[in-house]
This record gives sequence, C-alpha cells and structure tokens, in this order.
Amino acid sequence: MVTRTESATPTALYNVTWNFISEDVPICRSATYITIHNDLLPMSPYVDFSAHNGVKSEMLPSRNVDSVQALRSRSTNAVDFQFTNVSVAEAYNEFLVPRVFEPWAELLLDEVNLQRGETVLDVATGPGTVARLAAERVGVQGRVVGTDIAPLMLEVARAKPPLPNAAPIEYLESPAAPLAVPSGTFNTVLCQQGLQFFPERVGALREMRRVLKPNGRVAIAVWAELECNQIFATYCAAVRATAPQLTSLIMAPFSWPSARALKRVAEEAGFRQVQLLTRTLPIVFEEGIDQAIRSLTATPVTVGVAALAPDLQEAFFARVRRELGSLVRDGKVVGETTSNIIIANC
Ligand SMILES: C[S@@+](CC[C@H](N)C(=O)[O-])C[C@H]1O[C@@H](n2cnc3c(N)ncnc32)[C@H](O)[C@@H]1O
Repeated sequence: MVTRTESATPTALYNVTWNFISEDVPICRSATYITIHNDLLPMSPYVDFSAHNGVKSEMLPSRNVDSVQALRSRSTNAVDFQFTNVSVAEAYNEFLVPRVFEPWAELLLDEVNLQRGETVLDVATGPGTVARLAAERVGVQGRVVGTDIAPLMLEVARAKPPLPNAAPIEYLESPAAPLAVPSGTFNTVLCQQGLQFFPERVGALREMRRVLKPNGRVAIAVWAELECNQIFATYCAAVRATAPQLTSLIMAPFSWPSARALKRVAEEAGFRQVQLLTRTLPIVFEEGIDQAIRSLTATPVTVGVAALAPDLQEAFFARVRRELGSLVRDGKVVGETTSNIIIANC
C-alpha cells in the first residue's frame, strides 16, 4: 500500500507498506520516503522530518528539500542505499550477513593475518560484521572500534550479544571522512564493501591512514564487476528488464571501476606496498529461490519495487524467479561472488 501526498512542486512524501507479490513469500515491511523530481529517497534520521510521519503525509517545506539535497551530496550512497531504514538494516543482518558478509569477513581477516592484542578499526562496520570476527581474533587483550554513518545499522550491531573471550567493541557514528577517531591509534584498519559508497574515496583512505599507528596496515574489500557476482547479477537483470529506473541502485555496490583503480586510489592516498588480491567465494541460499527473493528486502531496490504498480511487481518477481532458476542446485541457490581486496602499509 502506498500513501502519497502531491503538490505543484515535484516533491512528494510517501508512506509505504509493502507485501511483495511473490509466490509463497510473505514479505511485509514499511518505510517512509520522499521523491524529489522523481528521485526516490528514503527518509533519513539526519534530516528533521519529525513532523512528518508516514501516516500524516504532509508536504515538505522547501527548506527541508534543500537539506535533503545537501545531505545527498554529503553522503549520497548511504542514503540511496537505504541503510537509514530500519527494515532494510534488519533484513541485511538477517539474510546477507550470515550468507555473504561473514564468510567474506573471515577471508579478509585471514588475508590480513590479525594478531592477538591488536587494536582494530572497522570502517563502515554496518551491523558489526567484520568488527565482531576481528574481536574474536585479537582476543581480550585487543580492542576494536566500528564506525558507520548509519545509526540504524549501529543499533543492530549494538544489540548483538557480547562475545566470550573477545576484545571489547565500541561502535561510533561517523562518516568515513572525517573519521571520528584520533590519529595514530590502530594497528589495523578494515573496510569491507564500504569504499564504493563513500563520496570522498581518496579522502576516506587518507583518513584510514591518519588513524593508523606507524607500520599499521589497511585491508579493504570492494566487489568486482557485477558479472562476477552471479546472484546479484540475476537481481540486476530482473530490475533492468522490469524496473529500469532502479538499475543504478542495484548496481551501486558493483560500480567500482576496476581492481587496478582500487590499487591506484590506495597509492594516491599515500599507502605503500599495496598488494592487490582477487578472491572468489560461493554464496548459498540454502532454502532456495524463495529465500533468495526474501533477501531482496536487504537491498536498496526494495522500496522502489514496493512502489511499482502490481502488474510490474508481478513481472519483476517472475523475472527474478526465472533468472535465479539457472543457479539452483539441489534446491539451493548457489552463486559465485568475487571481490577485489587490497592490503597495504601506511
Ligand atoms: C554493504 S554495507 C557493509 C557493512 C559491513 N562492512 C559488512 O561487511 O557487513 C555498507 C555500509 O557502508 C555504510 N556507509 C555508506 N556510506 C558511508 C559513509 N560515507 N561513511 C561511513 N559509512 C558509510 C553503510 O551505512 C553500510 O553500513
């Protein structure tokens, strides 16, 4: 259900409750978002929209529109990416963290070879995926800090139970640049699938370097091209065919130009001995196509799909099913993911 308020200006405020039309897949979530010149934006806690909950749907005064636009230029992709929406943050934690981001975090930590007692920063920690595994590896003598721009992601992280025999973890709300941590503090800085969303990429890498101790190191992972990430490629094919206006949203995590560009940007930020690795891991939706479709609620297209006319939604999910069909093995959906990783010294 979409409640919409319109006016002469090209701005509208929506409250959306959606039930996905997808055989046997009960998905019901709600969110509030606005459009400006047909550009879809989720409501953000960074902007004072307190007078506008979705039920009251009033027009936004133009000064708020300006602040939304200012916000977009500051942190475009965190907002586009819906990490300011609690339902998406929770779905991300439920569907994608255990199946995609934890296996990749283990691989990243193996590559950087964390030692017990180290002090670690996890930039764009999200629900604390890498931070928690790092805390176990560095042990009680170590220390871990996780930062993220999205308070709702940090809430999910903070709600997780403490880990036995692990370093304490402190979560801080902070953009990637400037980082709200003192210079020369950490042995290792980690950043898994965050860099592609930062508006100032070299600036963010310089910040990571600033907060490292002498001889400290950084480990950063960024997805390779979409074609190397099979399940996400099926979602993208369905979006392109049935809701092309959402293509840039679904593509954003895979928009990094190339592995070489990753190395170059690290060198530009002043890192030395930059090592570039390309790694592949399978991801598995063990309950099959319905589960893979439910995982779409953890992606930025979810609100846009909910706002489609019913026949388009039906076409979208039919197409996702068809695309995912090629990846079914013994009732599971299995697809390869590929990430580029750099490990470098400061
Ligand atoms: C794909 S998630 C990765 C989260 C986590 N690293 C993991 O492996 O699960 C991307 C994260 O980047 C965060 N993010 C996006 N833009 C950011 C920015 N400019 N500064 C800090 N965090 C940002 C989002 O809020 C989100 O939590």
